[in-house]
Amino acid sequence: MTDSYLNFANSPVGGKLADVLGLPKPMVLERYKAGQPVIKGSVLLGGGTNAPLLETLAGIFKRIGAQTVAHAQLPQWTPIANQAGLMSGRWGVDGQPGEKVKALVFDATGLVDSSESEALYQFFHDAARSVLPCGRVVILGRPPELCRTPRQATIQRALEGLSRSLAKELKKAIAVQLVYVAEGAEGQLESTLRFLLSPRSAYVSAQVVRVGAPVGEGAAPADWSKPLAGKKVLVTGASRGIGASIAEVMAQEGATVICLDIPQAQASLDEVAAKIGGSTIALDIGAADAPQLLVDAAKADGGWDVVVHNAGITRDKTIANMKEHFWQMVVNVNLSTQERINDALVESGALKAGGRIVCVSSISGIAGNLGQTNYALSKAGVVGMVQSTAPIFAKKGITINAVAPGFIETQMTAAVPFAIREAGRRMNSMSQGGLPQDVAQAIAWFASPASNGLTGNVVRVCGQSLIGA
Ligand SMILES: NC(=O)c1ccc[n+]([C@@H]2O[C@H](COP(=O)([O-])OP(=O)(O)OC[C@H]3O[C@@H](n4cnc5c(N)ncnc54)[C@H](O)[C@@H]3O)[C@@H](O)[C@H]2O)c1
Repeated sequence: MTDSYLNFANSPVGGKLADVLGLPKPMVLERYKAGQPVIKGSVLLGGGTNAPLLETLAGIFKRIGAQTVAHAQLPQWTPIANQAGLMSGRWGVDGQPGEKVKALVFDATGLVDSSESEALYQFFHDAARSVLPCGRVVILGRPPELCRTPRQATIQRALEGLSRSLAKELKKAIAVQLVYVAEGAEGQLESTLRFLLSPRSAYVSAQVVRVGAPVGEGAAPADWSKPLAGKKVLVTGASRGIGASIAEVMAQEGATVICLDIPQAQASLDEVAAKIGGSTIALDIGAADAPQLLVDAAKADGGWDVVVHNAGITRDKTIANMKEHFWQMVVNVNLSTQERINDALVESGALKAGGRIVCVSSISGIAGNLGQTNYALSKAGVVGMVQSTAPIFAKKGITINAVAPGFIETQMTAAVPFAIREAGRRMNSMSQGGLPQDVAQAIAWFASPASNGLTGNVVRVCGQSLIGA
């Protein structure tokens, strides 16, 4: 489904008309193309007086080949950067802003009291107008629940309000995220920073990500452009829409993909699999014997590394009008069967140690939606499943995370009535719907072997939708 208004607002005449009428002017988002660098343009660094992550950051920026400059508040950056072999200079002189930059990264992990928030003001006040379109902002903090004192937990929690407000203020399709890095988990930060600084995260904004202690071994991939090389990935609901895009992105990342969908979708499933050199399984995952059939298939295949639970259905009606079988069908396909499949794959070892489970929730499950009691229950349940099983699966070296898409342009949303569809598209900080590949890229980030510091996370891919914010 194409968004004709997006094209119109980006034409010379349409752009002027949108200005005159005060209509939203969505930008065409920069999206990742194979082989491009993580970031094109420099990164401006800021931080509190105590900024404990600078050495970690210097190492990461060196590996991704990023140019950096430092705000005057961070004189310690230059020697640290030089030590890591990075060229770096000071940004701005005599209180005047410096060059335009592609990203801002602020190390707030050293803040222990709200009276230190001034450093945040200085940095973002000075730099707010200097971020290029489709730029990135990442604030690094410590998880409030792990802080040593109430004062420290308070200022760290406060960062959420700052990051979500910046995401609304900066406009120009600039995405802003808060990453809470647990003490000792600095070595797990790289895959997250690579994702959040790159065009892979085009439609992810105002999110809070928690990077924690490593689950299992994990490893930096030999080739960051093919992090899933040698991995076997099951994608459910792969015959169309978001699932087909996930299968494609997984293959681009180097994986061998097992594409699953219902038997009625066999023809399009075959097409998707043929395009990416994958295999197919035609199966209704709602069937009682699906978990065992998948265990058998995985074992026959030498075990799987990643499972992506993308298959999902809607049967919308207000609860008063809803038939019981519609309730049961949605809860079974979207939630209960996924719980059973996870348990069976993990307990049997068919999902290997170091494995990744990535689920697809929805902002309906976060905000609730009229006519979607069954769907919202199932998608909120996915969040519950992720959070409750993360510590259990971690004991086997397996992570589980979820993405929660907002309005994504697919056949599912094309079926939504026009007025509701337009509202869904525009009511977010990017003033447009996301594309299936935006969801797929977020899933690929969770699926990476280097993402073993990520478990129990739920990240929205919604352009900072106002719904459920
Ligand atoms: N499109 C959006 O805006 C949006 C927003 C939030 C969440 N989501 C979620 O993203 C996922 C994909 O959505 P989509 O828009 O691509 O939907 P879609 O309807 O286009 O695709 C879903 C796929 O799942 C398959 N499927 C359904 N039931 C199945 C079963 N029992 N066994 C095997 N396969 C089954 C379908 O055949 C279909 O190919 C779903 O979980 C959906 O709830 C979508």
